[in-house]
Amino acid sequence: MNQQTRLDAPLPFIDVAAQRRRLGTRIDDAIARVLGHCQFINGPEVRELERDLSAFCGAKHSIGVSSGTDALVLILMALGIGKGDAVLCPSFTFSATAESVVLVGATPVFVDVLEATFNLDPASLACGIETARRLGLKPKAVMVVDLFGLPADYEAITRIAQQHGVKVIDDAAQSFGATYHNRKIGMMGDVTATSFFPAKPLGGYGDGGAVFTDDDDLAALVISLRNHGAGTEVYDNVRIGMNGRLDTIQAAVLIEKLRIFADEIATRDRIARRYNELLGDVVTVPQVPSGFGSVWAQYTIRLAAGERDLFAATLRQQGIPTAQYYPKPTHKQTAYLDYPVADGGLAVTEKLAGEVISLPMHAYLDEATQDRIATAVRGALRG
Ligand SMILES: Cc1ncc(COP(=O)(O)O)c(C=O)c1O
Repeated sequence: MNQQTRLDAPLPFIDVAAQRRRLGTRIDDAIARVLGHCQFINGPEVRELERDLSAFCGAKHSIGVSSGTDALVLILMALGIGKGDAVLCPSFTFSATAESVVLVGATPVFVDVLEATFNLDPASLACGIETARRLGLKPKAVMVVDLFGLPADYEAITRIAQQHGVKVIDDAAQSFGATYHNRKIGMMGDVTATSFFPAKPLGGYGDGGAVFTDDDDLAALVISLRNHGAGTEVYDNVRIGMNGRLDTIQAAVLIEKLRIFADEIATRDRIARRYNELLGDVVTVPQVPSGFGSVWAQYTIRLAAGERDLFAATLRQQGIPTAQYYPKPTHKQTAYLDYPVADGGLAVTEKLAGEVISLPMHAYLDEATQDRIATAVRGALRG
């Protein structure tokens, strides 16, 4: 019997091992090739992956870097953002979004999200830009997060950003592979960052990330900054950079994973739609606006406030893991309490933080297992 279909077997939240079984010796061979040539840093697989990523998403430049967080930091450094500057950020996201802003010495100004999509609210963005100015900060960029794999409303956001001369950075750590009106993530705004953290839709076997842009000058700066600010002459560094490189072994793994990524995305989408059919009558399920394509980094439902802990415990007893992204929005976390929030406040963010819960989601979730999860969810809600 399939391990997943045994009625009481504990399920993985994301089944990285099932994907590993599918890829089999292709991964072993890819890693063995790196072990053969020993170019562990800046090896040929890094350039090959960068070419493959550009072919996949359409961005002119794809630049492999050490993590999603470093991708964001490198972008902010390349844009010359620092002290006295404000970067508008959602608070309903992983903390690395705002962390990267603080790391370059700028100030995150927290902005609210829309209840229907969990993504940045353009009206709150406009308020946040005014808040930043009132505080004497220069609004330089907005960091748009495509939460749980669903692209934000780029048309509305870019309109406001352009009105105010603010750059659009896509924090696509969760959304690489998603689409927005027939364009792939990697082509939105001025520049995009993604993460190859193992649990991401396209994840490596360790940390990694990438920067995408069509801007030649920006790309050249990021390439220099990821390698300590290197210039054209060896050991004449021309700017202060960092070690932000992607390891060759990670690139080799990602080349193999990218080959099956489109197929995995289609499967994830089928699974998410099936969850919606199985659960849509008993709980608030995620909706994808017309023209948008989610890569379903998470499948996240909403419960009434106060229901979540008992719900999670009931599922856990049946071997079904859940996760809460994010129970405490960034602006409520200890390290971020002193940073400003947009005028009008973050009421939606604070409400969602008490309601959201994510169910197991990956491309290797078979129908029997999904039925088991859906039955448990329905039972827990009745209880
Ligand atoms: C929205 C968002 N931004 C940034 C990051 C940071 O990526 P990494 O863990 O690769 O540094 C993550 C990772 O979880 C994320 O979800």
